[in-house]
Amino acid sequence: MASLVKCALILSAIIPALSYKENQTYWRQKGAEELNEALNLKQRNGVAKNVILFIGDGMGVQTIVASRIYSKGETGSLAWEKFKNMGALKTYSANKLVPDSCSTATALFCGIKANHKTSGIDASVDVNECKRSLDKKTHVDSFAVWALEAGKSTGFVTTTRVTHATPSALYAHTPNRGWECEDKMSPDAKGVCTDIAKQLINDYPGNKFNVIMGGGRQCLQSPVVDSPKDPVDTWGCRSKDGRNLINDWQNNKKKAGQTYQFLSNTEELNNTDITKDYTLGVFANGHIMYDYERNKGPKGMPSLSLMTEKAIQLLQKNKKGYALMVEGGMIDQAHHRGNARIALEEVVRFSEAIQKAVDMVDLSETLIIVTSDHDHSMQLTGYPDRRDGVMGTTKSKIDNVGFSSLLYTTGGPNNYHFSVKNGSVVREDASKQNTSDWKYSQQSAILNDEVTHSGSDVLVFAEGPMAHLFNSVHEQTHVANVIAYALKIGPYKNRDPSSGATQYHCSYVLAALMTLLIYFN
Ligand SMILES: *[C@@H]1O[C@H](CO)[C@@H](O)[C@H](O)[C@H]1NC(C)=O
Ligand SMILES: *[C@@H]1O[C@H](CO)[C@@H](O)[C@H](O)[C@H]1NC(C)=O
Ligand SMILES: *[C@@H]1O[C@H](CO)[C@@H](O)[C@H](O)[C@H]1NC(C)=O
Ligand SMILES: *[C@@H]1O[C@H](CO)[C@@H](O)[C@H](O)[C@H]1NC(C)=O
Ligand SMILES: [Zn+2]
Repeated sequence: MASLVKCALILSAIIPALSYKENQTYWRQKGAEELNEALNLKQRNGVAKNVILFIGDGMGVQTIVASRIYSKGETGSLAWEKFKNMGALKTYSANKLVPDSCSTATALFCGIKANHKTSGIDASVDVNECKRSLDKKTHVDSFAVWALEAGKSTGFVTTTRVTHATPSALYAHTPNRGWECEDKMSPDAKGVCTDIAKQLINDYPGNKFNVIMGGGRQCLQSPVVDSPKDPVDTWGCRSKDGRNLINDWQNNKKKAGQTYQFLSNTEELNNTDITKDYTLGVFANGHIMYDYERNKGPKGMPSLSLMTEKAIQLLQKNKKGYALMVEGGMIDQAHHRGNARIALEEVVRFSEAIQKAVDMVDLSETLIIVTSDHDHSMQLTGYPDRRDGVMGTTKSKIDNVGFSSLLYTTGGPNNYHFSVKNGSVVREDASKQNTSDWKYSQQSAILNDEVTHSGSDVLVFAEGPMAHLFNSVHEQTHVANVIAYALKIGPYKNRDPSSGATQYHCSYVLAALMTLLIYFN
């Protein structure tokens, strides 16, 4: 009997259609398995040598659920969904209930909440305040700085431009995420503040990163050639000042007598010389193209999974360990354009990169954290049958007109499927459209320039040393603190739970002593 059930379980995992008929035996058996896993939970209390922080940009809970159903069926799980420790993170920023990606990245990486559209600075600086952002006291360090101070290797991998919002909070201090290169800077900021690309290549800590991989040639070098195979992102900064920061990066390494390599396509990445100390991979003018449309040949743009694999190989040479950030950045881009299927596919690729990392590292010494920076406004709603999956439609009970099971609350013109006919507003019948087409834009209630983020908590999943410190509803800043505590770096290098706050106490004590000295003189 038991073996029959086991067999049924295996079959149902392979053939999702069968799992539609789960009976009592199935649920009792599965229930016992889950209960036993929970009863046998063990905490890992050691010090972590390495950390890999995975950020699914814009990957809210509904996006995770829809991607799971889309790729594994509703009984399946994505690569991180069997991690044994999890919590929720509050994503509001210093001044917004619904945040953007660089204020949230600052919270995640630096442990300090920042204002909307600002990166690597505290909330005393508002967006565009160039002069104020030059005050070093407003700058906040990321876990990459703490890791470097501890002699660890550092780096990041992203499917977006390497100067984009999320990665920028690892290394830059800027009052405007749009200042990726000189061209988008306001006249009062030009020549006064440093654009994000220059900070990455020339300033600490970007100039010490062992691995930098992603897109964004248009911010590092000018001019670049726009083409359908390698499009320039028209919304992003496009440098016009004749810079070549890719050459500068190589010259800096050469002058310092360091070993380095520059990589520009999948083939070169696949042939990475793992012995080199510094690696810069720039694989696209703009963001790396969506996985479903990128050129998967040797001259094309690489997968997130291959970049992650190579990054880990490069970083794990350091006996003192490493800190790596990996961003699945195009989930958010697809959601902003209201293309749900592309967003779900990007989550599947993100999951593959995480599986690759899990297979490569030793979880007794490596902390792996998977989370998101913020939610998006996509919902799975209506009452679709299990057999219909998430890409289909259900019908409104009022007018019997179909709507897509995945809906956006806000959306751009493509998502707004309403028109006025004979004096009344009518909604297009989604059941007559191909809602599983890549380019289909799921319906939205509100017409806007694009889909907006939403303000829900996001989930955080973790495995490895101190992963159990995610256990509740936390502030988003908790992620930076757990990394510091688990690796004994930065504010928690002595692993004193109060030490994160003592930096400030120390300065108060010093100030008091100085006052006393002056008084007695
Ligand atoms: C439960 O379903 C499995 C197949 O999924 C079947 O082998 C088993 O006999 C069923 N058990 C009962 C009690 O109906
Ligand atoms: C990388 O190289 C290996 C061995 O040469 C090859 O089997 C594999 O297909 C390559 N992968 C990619 C993504 O090009
Ligand atoms: C348009 O609406 C009017 C008033 O509701 C109705 O009398 C008319 O038949 C409608 N015409 C069409 C073509 O549906
Ligand atoms: C809908 O779009 C998908 C993806 O582009 C395609 O594979 C499928 O054939 C289309 N279905 C219909 C009925 O056109
Ligand atoms: Zn975003």
